[in-house]
Amino acid sequence: MRSGMVVAALIFSIALQSAASAETPSSYEGRLLFNSYCLLCHGPDGKGGGPLARKMEVEPADLTRTIRTRSDVALKKIISGEGRQFISGRDRHNIISDAMPEWKDVFSDEEIASLIAYLRFLNASKHPLMADPEKGHELYQKYCRACHGLDGEGDGVMTSLIDIEPMDHTNSLSMNEISNLEMIRVIKNGKGDYMPGWKDIISDEDVKALVSYIRLLSH
Ligand code: HEC
Ligand code: HEC
Repeated sequence: MRSGMVVAALIFSIALQSAASAETPSSYEGRLLFNSYCLLCHGPDGKGGGPLARKMEVEPADLTRTIRTRSDVALKKIISGEGRQFISGRDRHNIISDAMPEWKDVFSDEEIASLIAYLRFLNASKHPLMADPEKGHELYQKYCRACHGLDGEGDGVMTSLIDIEPMDHTNSLSMNEISNLEMIRVIKNGKGDYMPGWKDIISDEDVKALVSYIRLLSH
């Protein structure tokens, strides 16, 4: 009886956690999905030059141009295929053809949201990726997680051991104000009493990879 309640409580808290992460789609996750599924036609930069593109009758869209005026709701319809034909507004004259596959059975709502977040990043970020974010993710888990937390929210285990407030790397407003070069400088040299400098431990190329990973966390 008691253990049944504990299990129920656990399931409830897991449900709460996944609900919380669903609110903040990560363009890091979106980029991984994009590179596995969308790059084939839309190309690594989203501009439409993927390896399959030459074989297609309808050209894959240049996503860095076309999606600017589309709402998240419309993009979800386009990607999933569900309700695509009912998109209103200027799109009535620009219906997406079957050449763009329907992904509704492939991705969860959360995955589609993270794909859209990455498309928005490709479209609008003034801070381009400088190196491989996957390498950056690996290094972040190794060196930064203790303070900045598993997902970069600034809630690592050190925050309960010493009195520090590491930056929340998922906060798009404050992150947008820091340029790539400024971030590189702080990571190499440190800041204040508790943000360590890493220049003797992490190579310049790997610092750029970290910056690229951190960029995707706030988009
Ligand atoms: C087999 C090739 C192919 C793959 C794979 C593909 N697309 Fe497309 N996509 C297209 C083509 C072709 C169009 C243009 C369709 C048209 O204009 O009628 C398109 C159009 C789009 C558009 C609409 C652009 C606009 O605003 O007009 C979006 C958004 C899009 N794709 C996102 C994605 C995403 C996200 C993925 C990966 C999950 C993906 N596509 C995978 C071929 C592909
Ligand atoms: C010992 C805890 C700790 C570790 C480990 C740590 N940080 Fe920090 N970090 C902080 C604190 C505290 C701040 C806030 C500093 C301030 O504003 O005075 C911060 C701030 C930052 C900032 C924001 C700088 C700015 O301009 O405001 C960046 C970027 C950053 N950290 C990146 C990293 C990276 C990348 C790593 C891993 C290589 C890392 N941090 C590891 C504690 C840490």
